Amino acid sequence: MIQVQNLCRSFEDKKRGTVKAVDNLSFSVAKGEIFGLLGPNGAGKSTALRLISTLLKPSSGSATVNGFDITTESSDVRRQIGFLTGDMGLYARLTPREILQFFGRLAEVPEEELKRRSADIIARLDMRDFADTRSDKLSSGMKQKTAIARTLIHDPPVLILDEPTAMLDLPTARVIERSILDAKRSGKCIVYSTHIMEEAEYLCDRIAVINHGQLKISGTMDELRAATGKQRLREIFLELLELPSAA
Ligand SMILES: Nc1ncnc2c1ncn2[C@@H]1O[C@H](COP(=O)(O)OP(=O)(O)OP(=O)(O)O)[C@@H](O)[C@H]1O
Ligand SMILES: [Mg+2]
Repeated sequence: MIQVQNLCRSFEDKKRGTVKAVDNLSFSVAKGEIFGLLGPNGAGKSTALRLISTLLKPSSGSATVNGFDITTESSDVRRQIGFLTGDMGLYARLTPREILQFFGRLAEVPEEELKRRSADIIARLDMRDFADTRSDKLSSGMKQKTAIARTLIHDPPVLILDEPTAMLDLPTARVIERSILDAKRSGKCIVYSTHIMEEAEYLCDRIAVINHGQLKISGTMDELRAATGKQRLREIFLELLELPSAA
């Protein structure tokens, strides 16, 4: 579903010079799989997810999403994905239900189907209490749920979620985790980033750890354990960050 090959993206920064935010990254993610991207602050997770979502152009390398190339077929790629990023604004005067309707129409979901789907998502994400409240009056967790609902409304085969559970309380994070598992069960391909190790351990089929834009390791929890000799993901993570970047 997603194939990333030698993907690179640099930024020119006045003070820091050339920053290699994503440095020769390769991985692939199958249908029905949850792939977790872990890495310290500034590791390049958001940049990688933005590249795959076509919000940024790569400096070199390539990636395909459901067979479409991120550089030459970016509008096709965008139709395949639901993308969540922390800096995505909601329309202040619209309610969550109206936002879902707006984006559903934009994606040309038929009206009847759109009504059914948005009611279903509102129920599944436990949004009924605030689905008809203007979004500028919602709490940050409610806004986050609304943003996640928005990634689901056109029923895309691929979800790309940048820290979907950051700053959520435990019950709300659980609702989001469950919706990610539901998406997996319905055959979607999910790439997501998080700083919450327990959550990654619980949700992900495979995990990649990146640092300084480079892949340090990727595999199932068992493969990560075998490679590092550590048990818990937090220990594996810390162990990997101490290795030289060529490892
Ligand atoms: N638009 C930009 N211009 C210059 N540098 C950038 C830009 N976007 C990202 N970077 C740099 O790229 C590197 C990777 O940033 P990125 O946001 O991808 O990290 P991250 O892994 O998502 O971190 P976090 O966990 O803090 O969200 C950082 O050094 C960052 O400063
Ligand atoms: Mg980030």
